Amino acid sequence: MNRTHLRFQVDSRLATLLSQEYSSSERALKELVDNAWDADAERVLVTLPKPMSGESLVIQDDGTGMTEEELRRHYLSIATDRRSRRGERTAWKNRVVKGKKGIGKFSGLMAAAAMTLETRARGRLCRITLRLDDLSKVEDIEQLNIGLHSEPCGTDLNGTTITLSDLHQGLAYPDANRLRQILLQDYGRQDDFSIIVDGKQLAVDDVSGSYSEVEQDLPNAGKVKLRFAISDGKSGLRQPGITLRVDGKAVGRPGFFGLDQRDDFPPKLLRKLYGEVDADGLRDHITAGWDAAVETAEYNRTGWDTYV
Ligand SMILES: Nc1ncnc2c1ncn2[C@@H]1O[C@H](COP(=O)(O)OP(=O)(O)O)[C@@H](O)[C@H]1O
Ligand SMILES: [Mg+2]
Repeated sequence: MNRTHLRFQVDSRLATLLSQEYSSSERALKELVDNAWDADAERVLVTLPKPMSGESLVIQDDGTGMTEEELRRHYLSIATDRRSRRGERTAWKNRVVKGKKGIGKFSGLMAAAAMTLETRARGRLCRITLRLDDLSKVEDIEQLNIGLHSEPCGTDLNGTTITLSDLHQGLAYPDANRLRQILLQDYGRQDDFSIIVDGKQLAVDDVSGSYSEVEQDLPNAGKVKLRFAISDGKSGLRQPGITLRVDGKAVGRPGFFGLDQRDDFPPKLLRKLYGEVDADGLRDHITAGWDAAVETAEYNRTGWDTYV
């Protein structure tokens, strides 16, 4: 075991940046999920406490985690743009990096008075705790002493867990459904990034609106399962359409399977349609780049006309 003291390093843009607030506590929490995405995690578990329970809110990812050096250099440097230092894409999964302002880490403190970060990488666990109180006591954030606890851990363990405690009670209290709606917009279409909020994985049925499931045997595609929701939101969805999945993996971008070509289907409704169709039987008809199914007129016809 080992204790040291660390300091934040601040960029001069900080004052401007911190003044931009989040519109809701769910938006603030999304920053922490974005950080898991940027850390090339494949799974994030979000556990929201029941209101007034006094329990903590936990966000746990299985991403790269941080070594002590990375914690100092990356986490504790505020308001520096990681993309200018480390590029626009993540190292392992080549994802487009979400973080840019270097302040996302503080978003948790919008919902809670204390935040503990525990991160595991290369056989070492590091833990620091930030308290809103301490932050407001120092005149300059760089003067803040942050106690670092570090100890050995299994070399096969990596990832980061953020625990938010002493949650502010009341209006800003994070709500699981609202959080799911927000996360769905960005991450609902990702195969290699599953988000589990309170034990339930984010899925099509989280779209607020009407939800339906249809299962059918199609002559050329075998058993096909369609799940879709029609959003009850006023405006259209950010990524409407139906994703074709074969063996659980998305093929190309979401599309409308010809519904968008029909003059009897209202375009407004298209923008509220969100779904997935599992068609493992099409395995042999997928292009090498996994970006399209080689469509036959017959598949299109039998596919959709039976559903709509
Ligand atoms: N969950 C995490 N796993 C690994 N590294 C993280 C995690 N959260 C934050 N970091 C590191 O801390 C840095 C600062 O995070 P943040 O304040 O959200 O700013 P930004 O994402 O804009 O860089 C990130 O760039 C990343 O290097
Ligand atoms: Mg971030």
